[in-house]
Amino acid sequence: MSQLKILTIIGARPQIIKSVALSRAIRNKFSDQLKELVVHTGQHYDDNMSDVFFTELEISKPKYNLNVGSGGHGKQTAMMIDAIEEILFIENPNCVVVYGDTNSTLAGALAASKIHIPVIHIEAGLRSYNKSMPEEINRIMCDHVSTLLFSPTKAGFNNLIKEGFKENNKPPYSIDNPKVFHCGDVMFDNSIHFSLIAEETTTILKDNSLEADKYILATIHRNNNTDDAVRLNTLFNAINKIAKKNEIKVVIPLHPRTAKLLPQNLSSSLYTEIKTSKYFRIIDPVSFLEMIALEKNAQLIITDSGGVQKEAFIFKKPCIILRPETEWIELVESGAAIIADADEQNIINAYNTFLTKKDIMFPNTFGDGKASEFICSEIIKLIN
Ligand code: UD1
Ligand code: UDP
Repeated sequence: MSQLKILTIIGARPQIIKSVALSRAIRNKFSDQLKELVVHTGQHYDDNMSDVFFTELEISKPKYNLNVGSGGHGKQTAMMIDAIEEILFIENPNCVVVYGDTNSTLAGALAASKIHIPVIHIEAGLRSYNKSMPEEINRIMCDHVSTLLFSPTKAGFNNLIKEGFKENNKPPYSIDNPKVFHCGDVMFDNSIHFSLIAEETTTILKDNSLEADKYILATIHRNNNTDDAVRLNTLFNAINKIAKKNEIKVVIPLHPRTAKLLPQNLSSSLYTEIKTSKYFRIIDPVSFLEMIALEKNAQLIITDSGGVQKEAFIFKKPCIILRPETEWIELVESGAAIIADADEQNIINAYNTFLTKKDIMFPNTFGDGKASEFICSEIIKLIN
């Protein structure tokens, strides 16, 4: 049988990491049947937001890098669509694979669907039901032009059914007769695969004088938190109060978006206090293996990231969510995560709750660690 050509679109940090799981499955189990070709939009471009993952996770460099870089939604997405379409005409793949909910996801889905190349959406069906998030618009648009939709959770699958996708569509699948799956999460596959390697190979705790269970890990990068000075001040105030009262260190690998806005949007007194605090370790973005090591050893995680919320759960750490809602509702329903939004008292109360709460439940939510293999076998069925 000849190899089928799949073209994978990545661009932002979490997509580069997610794509590793499928690439690994193709390399190990499906290399006779699938040939993958990767296009990087260049949405993320700093070494520590992009290159580090290719080197560390041993994945081959993309065949194309569109070098689109940063910009407004319209310009950034339009530049991606234009360049992706050109590549699709050159490469003529059997299908296009996109991940998650970024502008790179949307661009890939629109470019491919308009020229009748089937779109495979991995991480389909997630909804915040908050369309002020750019990601919510990207998700909905992408799902509705996809042919195969792989949802990591039952809640995501149910969201698709509520939007009119049919549970029992029969092949041949197409954009007008799509197939929805609940198949587990490729990031669960990755977390299992890299968990031990991360602890054995990284020195991030030692480098930052951190001891297991004696620090909080925090990440903040959502546009509504970084760009709104009131929210950003509230978040850092709350974390600073928790650190001082409990004499606990806080490590924050800072997203470049936040790094640029922190000096501008934090009050000068809070900014100075945090910069000079003996509790805070504000560091550059770390590699994925370093991030896993930080997650696995943290006392607790505070974040507005989708991926970090989920990894907190996978590594059995309580999580405080700095958003008004989450797409990963199972984490909150199990009691392992609390939605605190940008509310100082909610954040402090959530921390105190987790300090005293024993036997937090982390039920198996993200599959059996073989989601990527399942996805590969369904792609093969689709295009054979
Ligand atoms: C994007 C995604 C978001 C995802 C996040 C993952 C969209 C709409 N948003 O948000 O869903 O959670 O990636 O991290 O697609 N920057 C750099 N260097 C880089 C990349 C970005 O300095 O390598 C700075 C630039 O100032 C840029 C800003 O970060 O303007 C925002 O980058 P952008 O990719 O537009 O959005 P993110 O906030 O990263
Ligand atoms: N991550 C990383 N280094 C960091 C911060 C995050 O490798 O300094 C990883 C994290 O483990 C997760 C992914 O990046 O797998 C999450 O990406 P991000 O928070 O940027 O985006 P989101 O998931 O919110 O879209």
